[in-house]
Amino acid sequence: MNETDIQTIEVALGARRYAVYIGRGLLGDHARWRAHLRGRHALVVSNTTVAPLYLDRVAQGLEGLRWSHFLLEDGEAHKTFGNVGRALEALAALGATRDACVIALGGGVVGDLAGFAAACWMRGIDFIQMPTTLLAMVDSSVGGKTGVNLPAGKNLAGAFHQPRAVVADIGTLATLPDREYRAGLAEVVKGAAIGDAGFFAWLEANADALAGRHDATLVEAIARKVRYKAGVVARDETEQGERALLNLGHTFGHALETAGQYTALLHGEAVAIGMLLAARLSERLGMSDAADTARLRRLLERLGLPVALPGDSDAQRLLALMRLDKKNTAGTLRLILWRGIGRAEIVGGVAENTVLATLDDAARHR
Ligand code: NAD
Ligand code: GLY
Repeated sequence: MNETDIQTIEVALGARRYAVYIGRGLLGDHARWRAHLRGRHALVVSNTTVAPLYLDRVAQGLEGLRWSHFLLEDGEAHKTFGNVGRALEALAALGATRDACVIALGGGVVGDLAGFAAACWMRGIDFIQMPTTLLAMVDSSVGGKTGVNLPAGKNLAGAFHQPRAVVADIGTLATLPDREYRAGLAEVVKGAAIGDAGFFAWLEANADALAGRHDATLVEAIARKVRYKAGVVARDETEQGERALLNLGHTFGHALETAGQYTALLHGEAVAIGMLLAARLSERLGMSDAADTARLRRLLERLGLPVALPGDSDAQRLLALMRLDKKNTAGTLRLILWRGIGRAEIVGGVAENTVLATLDDAARHR
């Protein structure tokens, strides 16, 4: 892959804008990303899995700056306030000034935490996202949601803080486990399923190349998903309305993740099953038809994603977990559903027994 194969998507938020670069070899393309560092200090935040693989490549681009790194242990359990505090201590030890830059090198866990630390240091400094998972490339690195988990729940503390640039080097995906790669593909499908029927058809036509990690197809898929998300974020940066559509399948998926104690399913896998449950519920409510549900299921299957409820799923328990969502009112749920491929919408007042019937049905027909 050469220079011409690098795609640049611009995220525009009024007067603020930033570039998302997508291609192979970008971590080593120092001139491109170094141009986005304004000051003399940089802190690279990464984790103990990713840093041994890719930190050197980034470090070479930081020559001449005062920089250091802060490494998290691997895993969602380390996306904590305590570690934000440690990252801030690392910035203090570096003597980071107002024009310092935090570089997030890793998946969504690293990106969310590093971005939040950047939002906190001196009330907000620059940060650059260097996502190394497919999920982070197509979702978490773009749009400015940063934060950490609390014992009371996931992502409960955070800030909207947009990166100064996003550098998505698909070369880093060579070391990403296959299961993580496929989980990232679920987030690609999600964007198309929510709001871009043409993209969905393109994914159907290119599913085998994507499953086989074909370079140009992958860059195009990431670019299309990022372009779609950038549009949504441009219209609704702080999720007052439309941005909530990006959560298609999440209420079901979150219940599945919680039921599996966050170890049975990866987030993207839970979203894949959740999207299909949302499609089935939409069908039950007369909003969409079986043909669209079947297309979604087929695409997810071709990409190697799970489409059935895990064997030990209990519909009543899943409903109870879905009920915990703060947006609900007694006896009804507020969910992202769809009117077919590319047409998601927010629907309030969905009767719990209709949701339960959908879950029961899915549990019986695995
Ligand atoms: P992750 O960051 O835990 O990465 C998954 C695994 O892959 C980890 O073990 C990681 O060490 C490893 N890894 C990362 N890059 C690798 C590489 N190139 N080679 C080998 N191994 C590699 O998980 P994720 O799926 O990237 O992100 C999930 C997180 O993102 C969650 O915390 C979720 O809340 C958050 N998220 C945030 C947003 C947002 O808008 N901010 C959106 C979606 C998800
Ligand atoms: N991942 C959902 C969002 O960025 O809003």
